[in-house]
Amino acid sequence: MNVVRLGIIGVGGMGSGHARNMPRVPEAELTAVCDIAPEALQAATEAYNVPGFTTHTELLDSGLVDAVIIATPHYFHPPIAVDAMERGIHVISEKPMAVQVSEAEKMIKTAEKTGVVFSVMFQERTRPVHQAAKKLVEEGRLGPLYRAQLVDAHFRSQAYYNSAGWRATWKGEGGGVLLNQAPHGMDLFTWLAGMPSKVIAQVNTRQHIIEVEDEASALLEYENGAIGYMLESVNESPTGLRIELCGEKGKLVLDHRGLHFWEVVPGVRATSDGTDQMWGHPEVNEVEVPLEERETGHAVIVRNVARAILYGEALISPGPEAIYSLELANAILLSGHTGQPVTLPVDRAAYDAFIEEKKASSRDKDVEDQRITDPNHVV
Ligand SMILES: NC(=O)c1ccc[n+]([C@@H]2O[C@H](COP(=O)([O-])OP(=O)(O)OC[C@H]3O[C@@H](n4cnc5c(N)ncnc54)[C@H](O)[C@@H]3O)[C@@H](O)[C@H]2O)c1
Repeated sequence: MNVVRLGIIGVGGMGSGHARNMPRVPEAELTAVCDIAPEALQAATEAYNVPGFTTHTELLDSGLVDAVIIATPHYFHPPIAVDAMERGIHVISEKPMAVQVSEAEKMIKTAEKTGVVFSVMFQERTRPVHQAAKKLVEEGRLGPLYRAQLVDAHFRSQAYYNSAGWRATWKGEGGGVLLNQAPHGMDLFTWLAGMPSKVIAQVNTRQHIIEVEDEASALLEYENGAIGYMLESVNESPTGLRIELCGEKGKLVLDHRGLHFWEVVPGVRATSDGTDQMWGHPEVNEVEVPLEERETGHAVIVRNVARAILYGEALISPGPEAIYSLELANAILLSGHTGQPVTLPVDRAAYDAFIEEKKASSRDKDVEDQRITDPNHVV
């Protein structure tokens, strides 16, 4: 195989974005599309001149694809991924990989069993600053973690929420900001800081007429005793991501200005324990972190997966790592709605029961589906 034959399942806003990006991926060609909505399917078959199918199983059984991108609303990611994997078809799932961790585990287990390449679309990982931050953490430059903080501010209008029946409903989306806008920031946060072991959270619906949360905040505890704080919101402007990680030997800050790193000599605790000076401080040196020049964006993940299939290239965003941000989102929703602390890993049965209860209370929305992704977003 020289070129991976790729199908896209769900050609709405994001799926169409992936289709338009295909010229950036010489290792793959778009060979089929699928959408349950005839108008979306027709638009895609005409635009990209490929066969179209109204069910994902027809596409998977067509013999036309080696791999698929799943860009449907979130609840469909796990069943479609499992159906693809069972047929030996490689999978890129859009984020979040699932609504519930129990479903995410089925995807991971099926990928392991079938040996297919499985990746989740966390394209933010491709940015040079994020790769450089990960390298600092992996090299142990922060030392043991003392504090982790994430502030991930987004803006969404009521018109956005009125743009599709599935958005911001329990039965269509299974959560609000935590399931839709937060996964990228929370993926970076858990990729860099690791997983907390306990969460105490609050969720609110402040500025929108929706069933689910438009704001979530949480206090986190880590196994080593470190603490963390988080905010996810769609109620702010200007928007932006800020991650702070403070450790014994260094402090890292990622924000809209880039990546900053300070090394602390000989260390925070080492100085506290070791100095006999009343106003003694550790030596703090800001260190310039070299950034690799690299391509970024969605197409880089697709290209990486194609190269993983063709040449065994290591995945930038492996499927099994995508469960971390979902695990945290599930823990925050459960804690926020029960008012109780939640320990991680989340109790799968308890979370499934919580979602079933919420889905039962969910209402249909009388809106017209628009299928338009933020034009500034798809690269
Ligand atoms: N990686 C990113 O940065 C990013 C950006 C935007 C959206 N997304 C993700 O992409 C997914 C889709 O979001 P969107 O904004 O494109 O939504 P959308 O409503 O614009 O498009 C979804 C499409 O899926 C189709 N569909 C629904 N159920 C289907 C099924 N069972 N089989 C086949 N097609 C089906 C719909 O008819 C629609 O055309 C979501 O999971 C979202 O979180 C990711």
